[in-house]
Amino acid sequence: MAKKRIAVLTGAGVSAESGFATFRDTGGLWEQYNVNDVASIEGWYRNRELVLRFYNDRRRQLRDARPNAAHLAIAGLEKDYRVDVITQNVDNLHEKAGSTRVLHLHGELTKVRPENGLYDDTYRTDEVIDVGFEDVNLGDLAPNGQQLRPHIVFFGEAVPNIEKAIDLVSAADILLIVGTSLQVYPAAGLYRYARFDTPIYIIDPQDVPVHDKRITHIREVATKGMETFLKMLEK
Ligand code: OAD
Repeated sequence: MAKKRIAVLTGAGVSAESGFATFRDTGGLWEQYNVNDVASIEGWYRNRELVLRFYNDRRRQLRDARPNAAHLAIAGLEKDYRVDVITQNVDNLHEKAGSTRVLHLHGELTKVRPENGLYDDTYRTDEVIDVGFEDVNLGDLAPNGQQLRPHIVFFGEAVPNIEKAIDLVSAADILLIVGTSLQVYPAAGLYRYARFDTPIYIIDPQDVPVHDKRITHIREVATKGMETFLKMLEK
């Protein structure tokens, strides 16, 4: 018999216990930086050096980061389920934990690509370069002669993987959402594509902004919440 399908939508909260600051919590990244300066397409054209430095810092931080028990528990679900992780995170901790199907909605820190023209957010997948944890600076060029930019979906740009994510959520028998404030669209609206009979579990220690009779809110941090979720699955 085919395995049941779980789609797992994750946000910064799943990596918080690996030592990464979230964006919108107290002490989060968007208190220290202006999101429009470092994570928007306008910010990129205003000051590429600042944006490159911001992502170089994030990339260096990722070098020594380890997946936590929540990433590992999500990977462990693959034993009994077909699991599709849809992550808003640009870290690689789901992959490090052993998840084999990971769709990155907002890009990946360890990758860069040519900027390809003013306000042009299109690219070919064969233009994407894996730089690991290395810095990328102004003047570092792609093979096509263009400045390299982070392989990140900046605010103001399209989210190329959203259609794939919608398909995965629509096909899910269970939807699990971990550690996202559900403030950033289109990712925040994905849960609406779950089938009418698909149970939705949200793990987050804070209030969640969505109300739907299919939702069970597990009000715990990701590591603890995953333990609770696994117990609920057993029942
Ligand atoms: P946010 O910082 O907006 O939300 C983090 C969520 O994680 C909040 O709901 C917290 O309550 C929750 N949280 C905090 N600690 C947690 C823990 N230990 N376990 C579980 N949950 C915890 O981050 P995202 O929703 O991921 O985009 O933000 C979405 C997007 O906005 C990001 O992908 C990024 C950002 O700007 C780009 O940069 C393109």
